[in-house]
Amino acid sequence: MKSFKELVASFAEVFNVSHFPKEPAGLYEPADYFLTIGGKRIRPVMCLMGNELFGEIVPDAFHVATAIELFHNFTLVHDDIMDKASLRRGLPTVHTKYDENTAILSGDVMMVVAYSYLNKINVSYLSKILGLFNRTAREVCEGQQLDVDFERRNSVSLPDYIRMIELKTSVLLAASLRMGAILGGASEGNQNELYEFGRNLGIAFQVQDDYLDAFGDPEKFGKDVGGDIRQNKKTFLMLHALEVANTQQKNELLSLMEENPADKVERVLQIFRDCDVDGWAKSLKQQYLDKSMKHLEDIAVVSSRKKPLRELADFLIQREH
Ligand code: IPE
Ligand code: IPE
Ligand code: MG
Ligand code: MG
Ligand code: MG
Repeated sequence: MKSFKELVASFAEVFNVSHFPKEPAGLYEPADYFLTIGGKRIRPVMCLMGNELFGEIVPDAFHVATAIELFHNFTLVHDDIMDKASLRRGLPTVHTKYDENTAILSGDVMMVVAYSYLNKINVSYLSKILGLFNRTAREVCEGQQLDVDFERRNSVSLPDYIRMIELKTSVLLAASLRMGAILGGASEGNQNELYEFGRNLGIAFQVQDDYLDAFGDPEKFGKDVGGDIRQNKKTFLMLHALEVANTQQKNELLSLMEENPADKVERVLQIFRDCDVDGWAKSLKQQYLDKSMKHLEDIAVVSSRKKPLRELADFLIQREH
């Protein structure tokens, strides 16, 4: 069995080619740019891991993994427009380097090319994979809409937030594992446990992402630190601060969100620190990590085969980028 690192390398071998024709360059050059500036490639590797947990990796797993990574990159290009984010993977986002129309269209074409990779797989599992892929893609859109809706709302509950990040982020991680498991011939029961492992792990992963957006090291993170604060994102950091803050802090947070002063990020961060959101983040992350591990244990496969998935979980939760 391959380690996490080895799978990243195998995937890179098939993925690091151009997925597009040359012309029109205005469409494809920005798409190529975005795909070559990095990315951890977690989701395609999860697809390969889901397959390898149950059997030898089949060639179709690389088509599905490629489709997943292209789809993910499409969501990022559009997400960066929606979030007004100027940096990703340490470099300018597509709409910053080019313009918004370019980012919309080159994102769209990535998604279309993702489907043409899916269309290459053996018909015996095409319908299952496509069904899951489409359901997941729709859920990501639903999660992204909730994320935007919440920017304008001051009362968002923790369960609302968890549901939103489950949709925008964790279902794609979970589905990546499950698509691999389908290709590996896993039973329905094992597929479900693996999906639940990924769903809970994905929630912990987004909790970490939200934490890094406020407290990360800008050098390592590669995105604009404080972006979520500027956009009034209702991350658990903000929800927790609003919940435990005293009246004066709470009023300050509400007026900072309303008025967007130049020193907004520093002032919100100070209140976050005063409210110990840091400690709370750790416990929320751990809670979902524990849930995910429980499901991993329940997969009916010898424990030694689960080692790469344990490595992956550690990596995702401790990551700084
Ligand atoms: C970023 O995903 C979007 C989230 C769901 C947090 P990644 O952190 O996997 O982004 P890349 O592909 O490695 O850049
Ligand atoms: C993005 O969540 C999720 C999707 C792209 C679907 P974020 O907006 O938190 O992701 P980053 O921080 O920009 O990577
Ligand atoms: Mg974003
Ligand atoms: Mg976003
Ligand atoms: Mg984020």
